[in-house]
Amino acid sequence: MASRLWGSRFTGKLSKLSEKFTYSTAYDAKLARYDCVAGMAHAQMLGEQGIIPKKDASAITGGLKALLKMINDGKYVCDPASEDIHTDIQIQLRKLIGQPADKLHTARSRNDQVVTDVRLYCMDHMDHILVLVRKLQGAIVTFADKNHDVIIPAYTHLQSAQVVLLAHHMLAYVEMLERDRGRFGDARTRTSVNTLGACALSGTSLPTDRDYVTAKLGFLKTSANSIDSVSDRDFVIEIMSAAAITGMHLTRMCEDLILWVTSEFNFITISDEFCTGSSIMPHKKNPDVLELVRGTASKFPGRLVEALVLMKALPMTYNRDMQMDKPGLFDTVETIEDMLKIMADVFAGIKVNKEVLKERVKSEYFFSVDILDYLVKKGVSYRDAHNTVGVMVKECLDHGRKISDMNVGQLKKYSMQFEDDMRNLLKPDVSVKIKKSLGSTNPDMVRAQIRLWKKRIQ
Ligand code: ARG
Repeated sequence: MASRLWGSRFTGKLSKLSEKFTYSTAYDAKLARYDCVAGMAHAQMLGEQGIIPKKDASAITGGLKALLKMINDGKYVCDPASEDIHTDIQIQLRKLIGQPADKLHTARSRNDQVVTDVRLYCMDHMDHILVLVRKLQGAIVTFADKNHDVIIPAYTHLQSAQVVLLAHHMLAYVEMLERDRGRFGDARTRTSVNTLGACALSGTSLPTDRDYVTAKLGFLKTSANSIDSVSDRDFVIEIMSAAAITGMHLTRMCEDLILWVTSEFNFITISDEFCTGSSIMPHKKNPDVLELVRGTASKFPGRLVEALVLMKALPMTYNRDMQMDKPGLFDTVETIEDMLKIMADVFAGIKVNKEVLKERVKSEYFFSVDILDYLVKKGVSYRDAHNTVGVMVKECLDHGRKISDMNVGQLKKYSMQFEDDMRNLLKPDVSVKIKKSLGSTNPDMVRAQIRLWKKRIQ
């Protein structure tokens, strides 16, 4: 049998270079299992509807099942001379079961077939990614819980700002990842649409039952418009943009951790499993895995833009251009899966340098906002309080003096509202404890959040 599903209309042959340029098994072979599964549902439907004899339908189903087993066992070898994976499955099925195989392509076109296969691939991987994001959240929550009493400096503009609980900082990552889950989940819902049966673009005059196939394949619904079915790749773009956002989130986590392992910060130590040494400087321990997660994430926006440009201004309906959605999609999905897994392992292996951190949160400037709030609580306007604390901080800095060294008399020089109790504020544990607002770094609130996340993640 020819390595093409068409040909009788042609007298000439595709040039060797055209073959090399257009054949896609090098990347679309990943769709083999989905092609078999979708083919089985389709054949069963054709049998049930009396479009092909039931015995042919079961011969096809049996053959596809055998091919699926070979695929799952890693024994399926795709012929590089096949135009694409859909053609290859068709050819191998023909070899396996003979003539009934020729009936499989009834009321189906590769245009609806390929998009259905890609949707099935995406649904599978979205399910996996949803689990992997949860696992990463779990690793972060466990880490937060283990270090629930640790206080760290927090930054804006990468300048020390205030103190917060390390756990609070960690739960910020968990929130980011929860939005990522939402995006992947939403994308999955919109991906879960059965497009098989749209045929080339207009539907078919054969009495198919598309809802039957929808149910068999576990899709949430059947596509409503055959033209849209074969021309839409929004779901690919949605998944890739969700991955680009998640990738960006992972780079921000990596960046924090990379800073924190430097000797200058020295907040944490990460396990040797994720570091390498230097070939010239024996003292070095480089956080290569984190750097490579950060670096590799650059491909996601690149791949996303590639997909957007691919689809931009394509006329309705299917165009061969769309074959090129796959390398970027597969690369994106499978890379983000690896990254999510490795980040969970990294968090499980982090040690917090608690003694160092105790020293790092001592600076009294961390508490300037707390002092300001103290004045506000005594009726001073926010603007005046800001001024007062600003002047006080400046003079302390200019004269190398500490706020805690001043007596009440000296404090009153700045504001008559200062009393001795103001100096109680100059401690990191007090600073976190006095925070009251919902979502703040208050230890009770953070602990409650940890409990909540643990429950959600289980
Ligand atoms: N390999 C093609 C793709 O991935 C399959 C559909 C081809 N259809 C066609 N009529 N040439 O998009």
